[in-house]
Amino acid sequence: MIRTKLTEMLHIQYPIVQAGMGLVADVNLTAAVSEAGGLGILGSYTRAPDELRNDIREVRARTDRPFGVNLVTGDPLEKEYSRIVMEERIPVISHGRGNPAWLIEASREHGLISIPTVGTLAHALRAQQDGADAIVIQGAEAGGHTGTVGSIVLLPLVASRVSVPVIAGGGFCDGKGLAAALALGAEGIYMGTMFSLTRESPLHQSVKELYLEASEEDTAVTTLLTGKPCRFIRNEMLQAALAQAEAQRNRPSTEPQTGASYGDLAKIARAGDRFRASLLEGDRSAGGMPGGQVVGRIDHIPSCQELIERTMNEAEEAIGRLASQTRWS
Ligand SMILES: Cc1cc2nc3c(=O)[nH]c(=O)nc-3n(C[C@H](O)[C@H](O)[C@H](O)COP(=O)(O)O)c2cc1C
Repeated sequence: MIRTKLTEMLHIQYPIVQAGMGLVADVNLTAAVSEAGGLGILGSYTRAPDELRNDIREVRARTDRPFGVNLVTGDPLEKEYSRIVMEERIPVISHGRGNPAWLIEASREHGLISIPTVGTLAHALRAQQDGADAIVIQGAEAGGHTGTVGSIVLLPLVASRVSVPVIAGGGFCDGKGLAAALALGAEGIYMGTMFSLTRESPLHQSVKELYLEASEEDTAVTTLLTGKPCRFIRNEMLQAALAQAEAQRNRPSTEPQTGASYGDLAKIARAGDRFRASLLEGDRSAGGMPGGQVVGRIDHIPSCQELIERTMNEAEEAIGRLASQTRWS
């Protein structure tokens, strides 16, 4: 039985957190993960506020175990979502793409556990200073918005510099990864791409197949779809975005720059539609499909319960094997 500061803090059975994912982390997925003993996190991105409130209540009807809600910092509906999360007394709030001190402070006032996702040491230090209760350290290999430093360097670096529990994100899909993350100083793992490839995930079946076929080299990062560096699975939309970026690089600097700005509501709405068409409706070339390099290690679709049980068994086995293989004389 692996117990860590994270399992204690979140009152969960296993140190496994399902990453907040807009569109993908729906009621089914969130409830299934929490029921299986991990922490499910409901995504808010592209949900109407009323829909978010209903979904929170629906998760609660399906499980009496803890779960969280993810907010994307900079989302125009962020304040409204956060009010709903506070009113509904959700125990955990996760936030990606930034670390607003106001949100951490408001979470604290309402007794919520606040867990920002960060991709640099500087952001982790600031999050701790602002009062975060735990921090997801997300390596560059992660799906979705991401930084430039991989988990193997970033995780132990941050873990040695902050005192709050850190959760390892970016590139994790199994128990070997969990054992490695614990060895590097984490108190648990945060899996996005892997949980998006479970039976309970709403990803369209043909998209799940595309992810399963993808190798570790079939992802790329672009700013062109959301305005910030974001890692997607290669499809026609991504190839077009990369070609556009290349053309922009080669353009004389006097010409105006184009590209999406995250604050532009219309563009966000369009991006949301495209994400929905591709991820949920199976039009594999319509929109960006966030996914991490770890797709190269995933070859089947387990249920959340199978995934969590397998991960825990593998981690215990890996830790036991290392202990018995290591001989000091
Ligand atoms: C399909 C998908 C959608 C995502 N959407 C969000 C989101 O809405 N908010 C957020 O904070 N992070 C989002 N992320 C990033 C994840 O929360 C997490 O940090 C990342 O998936 C971890 O790396 P991994 O994909 O290697 O497991 C998304 C990731 C994926 C794969």
